Amino acid sequence: MLKMLKNLRSPSIPRFQRGRLALTKVNPYEKGGLGGVFQNEIFSLIFLGGILAGLAISANAATPLGLPEVPVPADNPQSPAKIELGKQLFFDRRLSADGSVSCASCHQPDKAFTDGRPTAVGIAGQVGPRNAPTVLNAAYYTSLFHDGRADSLETQALGPLTNPIEHGLKDYSPVLELLRTDPDYRRLFQAAFGIGPEKAEPSHIGKAIASYERTLVCGDTPFDRYLYGGDPSALSESAQRGLRVFRRKGNCANCHEIGLNDSLFTDNRFYNLGVGFKRLQARFTQFVAAYKQKVEGVNVDPASVYDPRERSELGRFLVTGQVADIGKFRTPTLRNVSLTGPYMHDGSQKTLEEVVDYYDQGGEQNPFLDPAIYPLHLTKQEKADLVAFLKSLSNPECMFSPGSFPRAGEN
Ligand code: HEC
Ligand code: HEC
Repeated sequence: MLKMLKNLRSPSIPRFQRGRLALTKVNPYEKGGLGGVFQNEIFSLIFLGGILAGLAISANAATPLGLPEVPVPADNPQSPAKIELGKQLFFDRRLSADGSVSCASCHQPDKAFTDGRPTAVGIAGQVGPRNAPTVLNAAYYTSLFHDGRADSLETQALGPLTNPIEHGLKDYSPVLELLRTDPDYRRLFQAAFGIGPEKAEPSHIGKAIASYERTLVCGDTPFDRYLYGGDPSALSESAQRGLRVFRRKGNCANCHEIGLNDSLFTDNRFYNLGVGFKRLQARFTQFVAAYKQKVEGVNVDPASVYDPRERSELGRFLVTGQVADIGKFRTPTLRNVSLTGPYMHDGSQKTLEEVVDYYDQGGEQNPFLDPAIYPLHLTKQEKADLVAFLKSLSNPECMFSPGSFPRAGEN
């Protein structure tokens, strides 16, 4: 755990001090009720100091420059044993139908927890329709997946295991069996949950993996040192100009938010940029006809007119069934974006230059295009500056070689 955290933060910044400062600001998670719980935890840590510090993990202690405290749900507090258990599960290939796939197959620590591919490849080489997003800072999202269909890391983690083209398990019993029989897992499970491993349930798998993921926070980038660390030399002149374009002419911060005390570079909302819309076009008339039938009470799934790859492009619609959500995807964080390409939910854009050109041309025209996406008329210099700025949002220290990492079941 400590080793992991060390990998994720720069030793030069006094973290405890930063954490204390962060207590005075408005917590964006207050609304969801998590902020309050979490802050209480921090207060007890401060008041009880060393005694509690040894027993509980404070996400706060590891909060890097430029990020808020990690929200932790009341029913799944962080603990070293649970984090360790989650870490082992995350890297364990035995959690798949043929022993070939772990979470880390698609979320590789040395690739900033992505796979570097346009779209993910799961068990038996099956190619999925969507790009694997980074798990770094996923702890801050209010909903998970490109279309926001999971509302917590706990639920999210259970999805890939039984996804036929990811881990390919029929149900969770092989994982539960492993927790009950493997001596290392038995010990960790008992320590993490205080109950015997024979009582293991799928929710424990989700909780442990989520706890590990909440340690994968990554800030303290040149941008953070410039804006929050009081170091004007942390950004090049070009990146500083790029920050202005990002906030003003480019309108980027409208969705990829920059805050007064910290920045997640996402507003956790959903927008249509037109990415991948072409895949919907061919059968759009059939889709509309099926949708009308549904509205009239016929039991039909309008999305079924599409094959899986096309269907994926319906985006948020797949979750809400609302026409206005067609082709909408969640604003992703831009932290570590220079390390997480290719880009967009379908991995269709290879470079940051390509992404900037895409925005400059006003996205891809379609009936649902968001009004905040329009031709920007950026100059060549402004585009270069914007790219320089985007490159200042990464911290390569957050990547580490899997070889240096203890992994149960990796053989
Ligand atoms: C076969 C590749 C693959 C495997 C294996 C895999 N994932 Fe993913 N992961 C993806 C893809 C693709 C998405 C996006 C899917 C979507 O949006 O529909 C994703 C999304 C996520 C997200 C949401 C991130 C965000 O920005 O919302 C998290 C967290 C995550 N995965 C964690 C895990 C965990 C934990 C495991 C193991 C239990 C795992 N993944 C296994 C490919 C994979
Ligand atoms: C209207 C909201 C909105 C605005 C304005 C906006 N973005 Fe985005 N951005 C998004 C959404 C939503 C996505 C994901 C789209 C998808 O996956 O299809 C995204 C994706 C990206 C990505 C890809 C990230 C990844 O990991 O795949 C980059 C880079 C990016 N935006 C940069 C910018 C820049 C630079 C600007 C300004 C020129 C900008 N954005 C303006 C909402 C917005």
